Amino acid sequence: MAKVTIVGAGNVGATVANVLATKNFVEEIVLVDIKADMARGKALDMWQAAPILQYSTRLKGTDQYADTEGSDVVVITAGVPRKPGMSRDDLISINAEIVKGVTDKILYYTQNPILIIVSNPLDVMTYVAHLESGLPRQRVFGMAGILDTARFRAFLAEAIDVSPRDIQALLLGGHGDTMVPLPRYTTVSGIPIRDLIEEDVLQAIIERTKKGGGELVNLMGTSAWYAPGAAAAQMVEAVLLNEKRIFPCCVKLEGEYGLNDVYLGVPVKLGRQGVESIIELELTANEMELVRTSAQHVRSVMDIYDKMSSS
Ligand code: NAI
Ligand code: 2OP
Repeated sequence: MAKVTIVGAGNVGATVANVLATKNFVEEIVLVDIKADMARGKALDMWQAAPILQYSTRLKGTDQYADTEGSDVVVITAGVPRKPGMSRDDLISINAEIVKGVTDKILYYTQNPILIIVSNPLDVMTYVAHLESGLPRQRVFGMAGILDTARFRAFLAEAIDVSPRDIQALLLGGHGDTMVPLPRYTTVSGIPIRDLIEEDVLQAIIERTKKGGGELVNLMGTSAWYAPGAAAAQMVEAVLLNEKRIFPCCVKLEGEYGLNDVYLGVPVKLGRQGVESIIELELTANEMELVRTSAQHVRSVMDIYDKMSSS
């Protein structure tokens, strides 16, 4: 049985812990936050739900990194979320420092963890954690694609009035407005999506998906947590249960899709070794152009971080 650390016991971090605990396959979850009492309180609250929801997962809240020693997987959600009017990229100066510091402290106590990054701007925070940790790219990757495809699937399910469970979809690119939903790889129980939906409705859903995070920020005054938390928990599950599931995740590209040294969402196989392979799809010229544009955008935010850290 495994040990999972979640750094940041805020909305997303606590949701990851809650989803994982109820699934009952992790031995211990450590919730770390600079707000120690809040982390302790949330861990205690979830532990008191265990008799009701019937799980054995132990939970500990702390601000002490020594408690994270020997973690198999670490999920980093520490940082600030955006407020209405902000883009994810606006968070870089605050969150880069936080993610860098957290990565250092985690690595001090656990030399070879798998790191799953959630903090925004996601693709660039994955870069920061990868750089700082010195771990192979297979062990440092980001959560965004599962969330973004889940939004796409949820909107499609509503539009054509079917269960979201039957919608399979894929999406590439960065976690932002340049993301690239792929209708050619979207089906309802194997039926191509375009057989079941009008093109103008599909295009409207694609646009809504790209701005799906912003829609929730406008409604709630802060960013989402239920779907993001469930998405990160699904990645932890795929790793710890060695499921070999295929998900879009953010990982460093080294020549895949003709792109180098950029962190981007692509379909990967997730298992006990982390990203066990990257799947390269045959894209149309138009799809590839959209992916390139997305990569250029991520690269421009990576450059901001490079300039920040060299000054
Ligand atoms: P939140 O404000 O509810 O929680 C963040 C927590 O991080 C707070 O409890 C705060 O005390 C803690 N924290 C700050 N600095 C820390 C440090 N140095 N060490 C440990 N803990 C620290 O925010 P929320 O909603 O949980 O979002 C967290 C991050 O996840 C944000 O950056 C947000 O933009 C991002 N996010 C990313 C998504 C994705 O798809 N990748 C989806 C949703 C959120
Ligand atoms: C989201 O897409 C804020 O990245 C976060 O909900």
